[in-house]
Amino acid sequence: MGSVAAIFILLLSIAHLTPPSHLFVSGDIKLIHNTCKKTTYYNLCMSSLKSSSSSLKADIKGLAVIMIGIAMKHANQTTTYLSSQLLSNTNDVVIKKVVKDCADKYSLAIESLQESLQQLDLMSSDYASLQVSAAKDYPNVCHNEYRRFAGLAYPIELAHREEKLEHMCDVALGIIDVLGW
Ligand SMILES: *[C@@H]1O[C@H](CO)[C@@H](O)[C@H](O)[C@H]1NC(C)=O
Repeated sequence: MGSVAAIFILLLSIAHLTPPSHLFVSGDIKLIHNTCKKTTYYNLCMSSLKSSSSSLKADIKGLAVIMIGIAMKHANQTTTYLSSQLLSNTNDVVIKKVVKDCADKYSLAIESLQESLQQLDLMSSDYASLQVSAAKDYPNVCHNEYRRFAGLAYPIELAHREEKLEHMCDVALGIIDVLGW
């Protein structure tokens, strides 16, 4: 009995040995790859998730959380970009108002993404998706502010930022879909 117990303990300790790290990495790269394949923008999904080292240790929910965090960061940088425009470029009252409104919209997008994280914590993927969809819509609300004023050019930098946030939200929505809750 004593030797059986000893073997059992030996097996247990072997099971707890850490396998070579490349085994973990390739496995998790595979999860990232398979998850990204199910989203609309595979390349954006892969490059975003690979930019965070925690992606390698994340489950699918974790990947959704990381992607949403990246979208939040992008929206945040866009509010910074807009405030710098506000300060530097013009004294035009209309432009100042539109830029300020747009910064507010990107802040609201950040709040929606924050809310989607809370919904994911509650295992409520429907409400999480709803919030990400709301976040995806705010950049276009900003774009519409520009459309209201004929002759007011929509800055190319902002157009790029709009498209990127929308695509990031699409990727996040795709990952949430994979959860299948
Ligand atoms: C953007 O991020 C900075 C630093 O984390 C934070 O202080 C700021 O409040 C954020 N801005 C918005 C609009 O959330």
